Amino acid sequence: MAEFTLPANSKIKKNGKRHAAANGAGKTRGFKVYRYDPDSGENPRYDTFEIDTDDCGPMVLDALIKMKSEQDPSLTFRRSCREGICGSCSMNIDGKNGLACTTAIEDCKSTVTITPLPHMEVIKDLVPDFTHFYAQYASIQPWLKTVTPPPSGKERLQSPEDRAKLDGLYECILCACCSTSCPSYWWNSDKFLGPAILLQAYRWLADSRDEMTGERLDELEDPYRLYRCHTIMNCANACPKGLNPARAIAETKKLMVERQL
Ligand code: SF4
Ligand code: F3S
Ligand code: FES
Repeated sequence: MAEFTLPANSKIKKNGKRHAAANGAGKTRGFKVYRYDPDSGENPRYDTFEIDTDDCGPMVLDALIKMKSEQDPSLTFRRSCREGICGSCSMNIDGKNGLACTTAIEDCKSTVTITPLPHMEVIKDLVPDFTHFYAQYASIQPWLKTVTPPPSGKERLQSPEDRAKLDGLYECILCACCSTSCPSYWWNSDKFLGPAILLQAYRWLADSRDEMTGERLDELEDPYRLYRCHTIMNCANACPKGLNPARAIAETKKLMVERQL
């Protein structure tokens, strides 16, 4: 499993503020949390929060909410569903990308280290800038594209077998845990689409109702957009939904070959 550590020359201060648990009565756990406030003009730092885990929900997101509500309201992170559905709370926990709302505190190290997703610009604390990621998503035109009218004049029907081809693809929540664990994406994210967007692209290539397969493949046929994947496989290890973007990329490469024959 790929782990990410900060570079040795990182300007992150090792010791920022230390926040003690509110009541100190139960079992306390330390959380070392990356802090960065662009308005302060200061370098990033780590703050350490102590949390009474007997008085906290079981997930890392519960601990973050407790830190924010009881110790430091300026602590900034994204979350919405707390069910592993919205993809908002993706971050790096103890060196592995994942969702804070589905990562149990008891499965973490004794002091839990939390940083933003790797190799993304940071807006504040644990909030990365997804602007480029979403622009890449928009570039694959993630909607059903057709040229013929629906046969029945109403819905475009799909057989159960064709519908099953979308399993393992439609569940993607666009959390970017996979793309930000991919070394090829770290170095070439300006041109390489990365595993999340390529999995989404294949979701439309695999859809029996879509009629733009050739045009979609034309868009991907480029030395960078698709072919910068070197089968490193970090993406499949990182996905908190158990999806396999590497397989979707391999299937797309297969379609590229098949259309040459
Ligand atoms: Fe997140 Fe998995 Fe989708 Fe990647 S494939 S964006 S890790 S849900
Ligand atoms: Fe990256 Fe996954 Fe390919 S980690 S190189 S996208 S197999
Ligand atoms: Fe929605 Fe974690 S809060 S996935």
